[in-house]
Amino acid sequence: MYRYDEFDHTLVAERVSQFRGQVARRVAGELTEEEFKPLRLMNGLYLQLHAYMLRVAIPYGVLSSLQMRKLAHIARVYDKGYGHFTTRQNIQYNWPKLPDVPDILDELAEVEMHAIQTSGNCIRNVTADQYAGVAGDEIEDPRIYAEIMRQWSTLHPEFSFLPRKFKIAITGAPNDRAAVKVHDIGLRMVRNEAGEPGFEVLVGGGQGRTPMIAHTVRDFLPIRHLLSYLEAILRVYNQLGRRDNKYKARIKILVHETGAEKFTAMVEDEWAQIKDTPLALPESEVARIKAYFAPPEYDTLDDNSPEFDAWRGGDRDFDLWVRANVAEHKVPGYAIANISLKPIGGTPGDATADQMEAVADLADRFSLGEIRVSHEQNLVLGDVKKRDLYALWQALKTHDLATANIGLISDMITCPGLDYCSLANARSIPIAQEISERFADLERQHDIGELKLKISGCINACGHHHVGHIGILGVDKKGVEHYQITLGGNADQNAAIGKIVGPAFSGDDVTDAVETIVETYLDIRADGESFLDTYQRAGLEPFKERLYAAH
Ligand code: HEM
Ligand code: SF4
Repeated sequence: MYRYDEFDHTLVAERVSQFRGQVARRVAGELTEEEFKPLRLMNGLYLQLHAYMLRVAIPYGVLSSLQMRKLAHIARVYDKGYGHFTTRQNIQYNWPKLPDVPDILDELAEVEMHAIQTSGNCIRNVTADQYAGVAGDEIEDPRIYAEIMRQWSTLHPEFSFLPRKFKIAITGAPNDRAAVKVHDIGLRMVRNEAGEPGFEVLVGGGQGRTPMIAHTVRDFLPIRHLLSYLEAILRVYNQLGRRDNKYKARIKILVHETGAEKFTAMVEDEWAQIKDTPLALPESEVARIKAYFAPPEYDTLDDNSPEFDAWRGGDRDFDLWVRANVAEHKVPGYAIANISLKPIGGTPGDATADQMEAVADLADRFSLGEIRVSHEQNLVLGDVKKRDLYALWQALKTHDLATANIGLISDMITCPGLDYCSLANARSIPIAQEISERFADLERQHDIGELKLKISGCINACGHHHVGHIGILGVDKKGVEHYQITLGGNADQNAAIGKIVGPAFSGDDVTDAVETIVETYLDIRADGESFLDTYQRAGLEPFKERLYAAH
């Protein structure tokens, strides 16, 4: 993985000491909260319903075991013993005390981490496919380019005060696991006719109150032009994005109001002026960063492991875990193991300090000391030998980390909602917990099959509800929490925004409504048809009929 050079170390250390001074002035009353706000937001520090909240970046979702241990230590010493992994491959601490925050940032700097650009109207943490570098369907490892973008965007003077926040995601594979079509810029690695790798560039996707799927502005961008093309997009946005209205300030609105074709022409014009400047990426620089992500020396193994097959055959629980949580690795004899942070009845995305340490130890023991964080709020060990999977699973079980539900109904994305968030209309976490309890039976979940349920506590859509196969949105109806349900959303390469099924349900009824939707699917599905396939074939009507007939 990437290691900080002297420049990175100095930059982060200077930022911490600057923030230490700002916090001291706030604590001494020399700065009001109003004056302090823009300063803290440069360092990922929010003020929420009950306390400050610190958001720490996990660049493109990659953590060493050392970094994971540090995150555990911070949770234990400075917080209430847990942290929350988010959809943007960050970790959030919900209870830090203000005077402690500079110390936390110092501790993070020790392991090459920080909270810079995790809030504010700047380019946020660049996110990537959690299977980067190990997936069989990959064209190239997207972390190389995510790291190049991280360096380019960190404290970029021209793009530190954009009209609004800016999110970039990249996937190296045709199967999109990074939701690139709902980001301000999405990059998809593709090959041109000559077989050279490059990027398809998508712009103007996003969720929030005006959800939109990104438009392709360029089918193929050669690697050397990555930064100049990004600059061209951001320049057009920086100049023309609406600063008069916060709700219309994201680039998706600019693309929509200008028209994708005209917007693309403006970007191409801007690009023509800067493409052959020093922004062009020299091959030597790409090679330098690539070296940090060079594949490790894998053992030569037989892809078949008789021990593994025997354990699978002999232990139904292990077999279910393998079916849901284990994905194919590009190297024979290895596997990708997903660690679910969605235990039945738990808070989606939360991990305790003990669990984080356990994962760090297991990464050292079984997976070359590296951990990934997925945008679906789970963890991943990318390089596990198949023959070690049974031992790994047994160890995970002792830490309540072996729930066999990846991609199934209880593997929900959920935002913090009214339990923490000052913008919320309704609670998200208790709804997630109730639905998860209702579908606790794993055999039933496996029978239902792939079903992505996503919950947000308000229209800002942090919980990705617009792109859930089933989406749940908390709304306020005359002071009472209600939940609007959408169906048919999708975040992968065939991304789609879900459609509202009808009037919202009360908190008491929403779990029953989800069950009715699932039962309807089970009744009408054709052989081998997933929930989304069935929805796409049958449309909203059968679900609507059953849902509202029952009321
Ligand atoms: C509790 C503190 C949080 C606050 C105050 C907050 C605020 C917001 C706001 C205002 C938006 C809408 C932005 C827009 O449409 O222009 C938004 C979007 C979003 N947030 Fe949060 N958020 C919080 C926590 C989270 C968490 C915990 C996650 C991940 C689980 C998250 C991930 C996202 C994502 C993915 C989006 C939508 C994507 C997009 O920007 O279009 N946020 N957030
Ligand atoms: S969706 Fe709304 S309630 Fe949920 S975290 Fe985002 S801003 Fe808060």
